[in-house]
Amino acid sequence: MAKLHLITYGCQMNEYDSERVAGLLGRQQYELTDREDEADLILINTCAIREKAEEKVFSRLGRLRGLKQKNPGLVIGVMGCMAQLQQSAILERAPEVDLVFGSPSISRVGELVERARRERRPVLETGEGALVKLTGILPRPDRLKAFVTVMEGCDKYCTFCVVPLTRGRERSHAPESILEEIRGLAEQGYREVTLLGQNVNAYGKDLTPPTDLAALIELVNDIDGIERIRFTTSNPVNLTSRLIQALRDVPKACEYLHLPLQSGSDRILERMNRGYTRARYLELIADLQETVPGLALSTDLIAGFPGETEADFEATVEMVERVGYDSLFAFRYSPRPRTPAAEFPDQVPDGDKARRLSRLLEVANAIQARKNAALEGREMEILVDGVSKKDPRQLAGRTRCNRVVNFDGGGRRLYGELVRVRITQAMPHSLRGTLVGESAMIGTERRHYVG
Ligand code: SAH
Ligand code: F3S
Repeated sequence: MAKLHLITYGCQMNEYDSERVAGLLGRQQYELTDREDEADLILINTCAIREKAEEKVFSRLGRLRGLKQKNPGLVIGVMGCMAQLQQSAILERAPEVDLVFGSPSISRVGELVERARRERRPVLETGEGALVKLTGILPRPDRLKAFVTVMEGCDKYCTFCVVPLTRGRERSHAPESILEEIRGLAEQGYREVTLLGQNVNAYGKDLTPPTDLAALIELVNDIDGIERIRFTTSNPVNLTSRLIQALRDVPKACEYLHLPLQSGSDRILERMNRGYTRARYLELIADLQETVPGLALSTDLIAGFPGETEADFEATVEMVERVGYDSLFAFRYSPRPRTPAAEFPDQVPDGDKARRLSRLLEVANAIQARKNAALEGREMEILVDGVSKKDPRQLAGRTRCNRVVNFDGGGRRLYGELVRVRITQAMPHSLRGTLVGESAMIGTERRHYVG
């Protein structure tokens, strides 16, 4: 059998795509290997969201050059967002690459690899393609949590973002194909699904008849075996009260929401083309917190967007404190090719971006520590998904609100089980607990253990 080494950068959608590629190539007699030096085919699934992500790929490609000299039969391919954004620039900068293809061509990966092997000259495939749902081809059936892409693309055109350029227009998969995929996952033992889309709460608007994410979540809730449903990423503009109510009413929908804010300054939000104001965002937060008790919130922030003054930045810090996020992801603004913000004249110096970023992380850490401490003494439901990173004798799992909890399983085999744990100690980034009992409860009763 030929060997495939697959390297994945970037978001969960890329992980999902990589799994599909491994599955499709598996049918063509490629087996996965962890070792790049024994591979016949190396594919890099790339991310273009920030410049740093691209630099990582180029330096990785540079290191693969030596392998190609030793094994001239080796085929190296670049797929994903960078393939779509940079296209022939990749072949110019990295002549060792034999194949470049974007996500619309994933379903044809086998054919593309064969072409690259046969023709012995670089193959470039970055056109638009039909929306294809690849189901039933997961190569590793021994896991609990799966990502399921429910829609592709984004139509929002935030001025900093390459996603509309790399992933195309918003296109939703039909509910039936998504449900079929999730039923298959449940049969293989998966217990948690995260529904993925760059702008996932716009789901279904483009379908005939139109539908929405709340309706989809209700349908997924009926699938036996699946115990937890999450979804990401939600744009505040498309957050409807129907979806907020689904978070409260659909038993398997976890009390966790990632709601990117990006900036707390109205002036900057406007320049980002985000489509909401800080007042509107706060209204949504108030509605969420009132409707869904125990809801955990996380967000994305950008430090040093063009034109961001100290006062704009302070408005962001103030929002972070006011909302009290359970966790957050903050990034230095990175100018991206073909995006409007890259051309804005008032770019912020790197030093200011770095300082603001570390301040955000400091504020976030303090809030997280405070929030974790408030959970001490609480009983929470955990999906056991492995062992503690620091002590393999301890079991680990996640709460419905997505916090990591480590606990002593008393030597029992609990992988994949829902158990109840009392939180005994809060650490900065995780919790410690003791086992209270195994949860046989499904549905409404479980709401008492909201975490
Ligand atoms: N669909 C999501 C965002 C996907 S990109 C949304 O609705 O917001 C993930 C995150 O990367 C974004 O939320 C943003 O915070 C960050 N990001 C995107 N482009 C960026 C850039 N040019 N520089 C820095 N961070 C960026
Ligand atoms: Fe990007 Fe904005 Fe869409 S951040 S993914 S253009 S919602």
